[in-house]
Amino acid sequence: MKRLLINGIGGQMGAALLRAVKKDDHDFEIVAGVDPFMKESVPFPVFSSAEEINIPVDVVIDFSVPKATEEILAFCLKQRIPAVICTTALSDELIRKIGEASRTIPVFRSGNMSLGVNLMRVLLKQARLTLGDAFDIEIIETHHNRKKDAPSGTALMLADAITEADGVSHPYVYGRSEKDRRREPGEIGFHSVRGGTIVGQHEVRFLGEDEEIAIRHEAYSKQVFAAGALKAAQYLLTKENGLFSMEYLVSDMLHQQE
Ligand SMILES: NC(=O)c1ccc[n+]([C@@H]2O[C@H](COP(=O)([O-])OP(=O)(O)OC[C@H]3O[C@@H](n4cnc5c(N)ncnc54)[C@H](O)[C@@H]3O)[C@@H](O)[C@H]2O)c1
Repeated sequence: MKRLLINGIGGQMGAALLRAVKKDDHDFEIVAGVDPFMKESVPFPVFSSAEEINIPVDVVIDFSVPKATEEILAFCLKQRIPAVICTTALSDELIRKIGEASRTIPVFRSGNMSLGVNLMRVLLKQARLTLGDAFDIEIIETHHNRKKDAPSGTALMLADAITEADGVSHPYVYGRSEKDRRREPGEIGFHSVRGGTIVGQHEVRFLGEDEEIAIRHEAYSKQVFAAGALKAAQYLLTKENGLFSMEYLVSDMLHQQE
């Protein structure tokens, strides 16, 4: 059994990880958590800060807040422990520090830990390279009525995969109302729908002259991110150092099948 520490154990994703480790046949045992605001009682120690950790750990998964990510990264670097960083909205400075740390320890960082969304990025690149300019691209995303940002970060991540495939930037167009003009070639259009309790749907439509191909992903619950984080932790345990991402892991899995 590998000893797992969860940074931000008291949050929604901490709870999802607790469920995932219980449910799935993983090689992990949660031996500790860090969270100054933990309310639930759990059968392992929960420290208020990374500085207090005083037990041996094999790997860390972080779903917390940027300040806590920075603290756990320093701990992992000092103790030479692999780190899976899932917290979002990190500053450029912290992203730089993560890159620097990855020269010494293995670090995994993805803004979306879902295996499905990252497979979708790989498929989108292939679709774009195959279909080229002849197909217009529109992205439709749907989320629950509490979501504040639009378009979603994942929708942007999917569009960025297409941009990366081309090596040229596409104009991103957010909605088409109040734009009294025709669609320009090369644009990527974004359309956001908000309502109910939908966890996350993303559909990318390639619209051609006489045909259409659509690639669609739907997350039914946040458990997909917890499952992805555990997969990432397993993957990191086979590495000595370096910076890895979910797309990297998916590409590795596809190459193994070739
Ligand atoms: N990469 C992904 O796929 C993915 C998926 C879901 C969420 N996230 C991100 O993960 C983060 C957490 O998400 P969540 O839904 O669990 O949020 P949450 O607000 O429910 O949980 C965050 C937890 O961090 C704790 N925390 C605050 N200060 C801390 C500290 N100093 N040390 C340790 N813990 C501390 C909070 O008490 C809280 O329990 C967010 O940044 C979110 O955007 C990423």
